[in-house]
Amino acid sequence: MSVDRRTDTEPEAGAETQDENLVELKVFRYDPDVEEKQKPRYDEFLIPRERGMSVLEALIEARDRFDPSLTFRHSCRQAICGSDAMLINGQHALACKTLVEDLAEPIRVEPLAHLDVEKDLVVEMEHFYDQMAAVEPFFDPDELPDDALTEQRQSPENREQIKLSTRCIWCASCMSSCNIAAGDNEYLGPASINMAYRFLMDEREGEQRGAERIEHIADDHGVWRCQTQFSCTEVCPKDIPLTEHIQALKREAAKKNLKFW
Ligand code: SF4
Ligand code: FES
Repeated sequence: MSVDRRTDTEPEAGAETQDENLVELKVFRYDPDVEEKQKPRYDEFLIPRERGMSVLEALIEARDRFDPSLTFRHSCRQAICGSDAMLINGQHALACKTLVEDLAEPIRVEPLAHLDVEKDLVVEMEHFYDQMAAVEPFFDPDELPDDALTEQRQSPENREQIKLSTRCIWCASCMSSCNIAAGDNEYLGPASINMAYRFLMDEREGEQRGAERIEHIADDHGVWRCQTQFSCTEVCPKDIPLTEHIQALKREAAKKNLKFW
């Protein structure tokens, strides 16, 4: 469900924390299942400051000490699972990778933009997963080795070419940052196109499969929708050069349509 995120309690950016032993959090709250929480608001939490504390740890403290209904996703706590991407002081970030001591307070914590809010900091991810699945992210080579134990080797140069594209942790920050995705719900989006790049540029990709993949990413909601705004590249926590990969696939799509008479 799409939520109007405006609140009556807009926190003032840059306000000073009164007690330096406390971390001041302003957390976006919304719960469609509880009548008095259906209007979005910000709740303030004052958390005992710990050296090296991450925003995720501060949120866990807020939940465990003050409000067990405070809802957010997290799992690995080491920037691997991608589940705690959110807006922290207006910037896309993984909460587990973001230190409280590096931030101006009060620290404003909000759900990812352009994705529907389910509750508090939890956003609807199904659409993002659908877009990832739409590019069919798996191998379909022309030939398989004769027996199951024979490796399908990849050259070191080719591995280097696709290396960064394999880093994606499915956090959806790129989708959240993208104006095009916000305006065109069917746009594949940066992460999904990057996933297509990962397979299309792999020298083991089958010829027929590659041709189909190009056709798909070059359709009306594919690579040509990208306006090279670089927002996805700027927010990616894994430093994947997403815009560069989208441009590379535009070149592949253009090459496929070149005709020589
Ligand atoms: S490409 Fe980067 S920002 Fe996008 S989902 Fe993957 S890790 Fe997250
Ligand atoms: S908890 Fe897994 S990426 Fe932050």
